Amino acid sequence: MPEYAFIGRSNVGKSSLINMLCGRKSLAKTSGTPGKTQLINHFLINDNWYLVDLPGYGYAKVGKSTSRTWQKFLADYILNRENLMNVFVLIDSRHEPQKIDLEFMGWLGEQQVPFAMIFTKLDKLNATGKSKFLDAYKKEMLQTWEELPPIFVSSSVSSEGKEEILAYIEEVNGYFGQ
Ligand code: GTP
Ligand code: MG
Repeated sequence: MPEYAFIGRSNVGKSSLINMLCGRKSLAKTSGTPGKTQLINHFLINDNWYLVDLPGYGYAKVGKSTSRTWQKFLADYILNRENLMNVFVLIDSRHEPQKIDLEFMGWLGEQQVPFAMIFTKLDKLNATGKSKFLDAYKKEMLQTWEELPPIFVSSSVSSEGKEEILAYIEEVNGYFGQ
């Protein structure tokens, strides 16, 4: 069955977003402490497709060798999982573009892995802050990308973005006859 993975820096809100999309409070375990998700967790939706919660990258407190092991394990999953339709790269809307995220998306591009971006925690910004942030991020991306990937915004507090993200998944599922 097709699957959709959520990845991004530790604490960006991957597990919270999965719960928001499913309308369930504690399906995926969340925490204020980075590094909560340490396994690849699959959630079967409508007996038809999977949402996949991945460990975050760039979590400084795990040792270097653990961090390398995780990176390899994530890379293996992303590159070899045949039913992985799309990777959602989550970006925290409160920060300037971070090197680690830009590099990760660059790597996905090089490896020709289809991905979309989701800006998380939008509830932390007001309307002006939102559009400023989005414009600045897109400008930064366009320095290296000819074309932007699909971009979504989300808040697991207000459920903003839920319909749009689910509609996108349904659309991609449609291409694969699901
Ligand atoms: P790891 O599994 O550790 O990599 O983290 P994660 O990316 O799964 O993050 P998680 O969903 O556990 O959320 C981290 C923290 O951010 C928690 O304290 C959440 O309550 C908070 N958080 C997540 N999403 C949102 C959001 O949309 N708005 C706000 N205000 N807080 C959020
Ligand atoms: Mg998590």
